[in-house]
Amino acid sequence: MSELRGRDFIAVNDFNQEELQTLLDFAVQLKTETKEGKEHHLLRGKTLGMIFQKSSTRTRVSFEVGMWQLGGSALFLSAQDLQIGRGEPVKDTARVLSRYLDGIMIRTFDHGEVEQLAAFADIPVINGLTDLLHPCQAMADLQTILEHKGRLTGLKLAYFGDGNNVAHSLLLACTKMGMDITVATPKGYEPRAEIIAAAKLNAELSGAQILVTRDPKEAAKDADVLYTDVWASMGQEAEHLARVRIFKAYQLNSELLSVARPDAIVMHCLPAHRGEEISNDALEGPQSVVFDQAENRLHAQKAILAKLL
Ligand code: CP
Ligand code: NVA
Repeated sequence: MSELRGRDFIAVNDFNQEELQTLLDFAVQLKTETKEGKEHHLLRGKTLGMIFQKSSTRTRVSFEVGMWQLGGSALFLSAQDLQIGRGEPVKDTARVLSRYLDGIMIRTFDHGEVEQLAAFADIPVINGLTDLLHPCQAMADLQTILEHKGRLTGLKLAYFGDGNNVAHSLLLACTKMGMDITVATPKGYEPRAEIIAAAKLNAELSGAQILVTRDPKEAAKDADVLYTDVWASMGQEAEHLARVRIFKAYQLNSELLSVARPDAIVMHCLPAHRGEEISNDALEGPQSVVFDQAENRLHAQKAILAKLL
């Protein structure tokens, strides 16, 4: 295992299975001990800058509270208010912020912007979502699956809907950890080819299986985890109505639950659109763990912050 301190967290695939397991184990430990009243002031005096180019509830609040619980502080930096919003180059922003901060979390559209920020910053950069990836979500998801199933290896996750940033990070995270993953999408909305290729390489090492299909029932069959995300991601609002028609057959509902394992859990990264990608019954039903997932953003990210910053 390489040293984690000082590294960026841009993609799940930048870490090997052992490193991801270390982060997950630490997240579970932090969660348990925090609930017992123990304090972990591991980042005393450190500051995280949080650049947001897109909206957020979970990411913003969990990173800010996480830094506070670790004895440090967080600064919310709206991209509209930064000079970056008026055209100051990312490479200059990276070098300036490196002189004040101990880490940067960024949520933006273009994944290349995060990579450029990391290339020019000499402090860790954490990806809080791009159009391509959502790695912190995937870490919270793995933690949630581990809590509910007691293991990751050998389980099957089925993802329905858009082959988007969340699907991409799940493909990489599951295959790294030896979990089978099936993705059911309409034609033209599959995960990107380079992500599938990277996941296949992971799977060769971990023994996981991958299937990309058009058939949601085939994907759901005997699954331990059923997962969906919005049909129109941030930045795709104009396509919303068209996408609702295209994705209609991919709703996570009781019909898909009936072909999964009886003890399957239902997951969604939130925010959810009830009646679109997920039925109200599936979201609110006894198999849903969506609010544990949301909570685990806090614990998973605290582990990342404490190990990397
Ligand atoms: N799941 C997630 O990233 O939520 P927010 O957009 O509210 O941060
Ligand atoms: N795929 C969604 C995830 C939101 C947390 C989006 O990018 O908008």
